Amino acid sequence: MLEKEEKAEIIKAFFPDEPEKIFDYIFLFNELMMKYNSAIREVKTKIEILNDELSLGNRNNPILSIQSRTKKPVSIIQKLKKLSKPTTLDTVVENLNDVAGIRIICSFIDDIYRLSDMLSKQDDITVIAIKDYIKNPKPNGYRSYHMIVEVPVFFSNSKQLMRVEIQIRTVAMDFWASLEHRMKYKSNIENAEEITTELKECADVIAKTDMHMLEIRNKIDKNELQ
Ligand code: GTP
Ligand code: MG
Repeated sequence: MLEKEEKAEIIKAFFPDEPEKIFDYIFLFNELMMKYNSAIREVKTKIEILNDELSLGNRNNPILSIQSRTKKPVSIIQKLKKLSKPTTLDTVVENLNDVAGIRIICSFIDDIYRLSDMLSKQDDITVIAIKDYIKNPKPNGYRSYHMIVEVPVFFSNSKQLMRVEIQIRTVAMDFWASLEHRMKYKSNIENAEEITTELKECADVIAKTDMHMLEIRNKIDKNELQ
């Protein structure tokens, strides 16, 4: 449920002069969100199918968990404002790539690249953009593999291309990102500088450990083959 203030902000943003049109707006907004949710379901199914196939036999699942969300109305408005774009549903579709978001948590770094490669090769998926924050970590230490993809979704009398943001990371990278996120959204935090330095140190340790875990797994697997 939306908070009262959130509702007021949405009405003001979309219908400054015609608040009575709110019901038309709610219908159209819900329709758009239904489309983004459908796109999430479609991409999620693709990921689950790959995970099932890659887990056949004695092999381990490359994926530990899949989370998804659609962006909250208030965050959509804030982002459009940040981009200095008008608050209309068309500008949402044209300018925001992360209204539909999926996060995949893997055990090992090579699983991340295998998955992204397999998804990219599917002929109904168009890769719009890739940001590889594993090869090029952010200065704060953030690591994750981001893909913006477009998938066709079939409705009663139309086919629509919908964008989905996919973030793929290891469980250790995810652990780090959730703590860093907690700090980012707290204002007036004491010792912010010190915490930032500590987080950066942890990110580097985690990156080394992720690599080491992969090496150990490879050694174990090599033994199994003999
Ligand atoms: P946003 O406007 O935040 O969506 O960023 P962007 O459009 O420049 O895309 P980017 O790929 O850099 O980031 C997309 C998403 O990745 C963010 O919304 C976060 O969920 C996550 N992310 C990016 N950078 C960081 C970071 O430094 N820390 C954490 N915790 N998450 C991050
Ligand atoms: Mg975002």
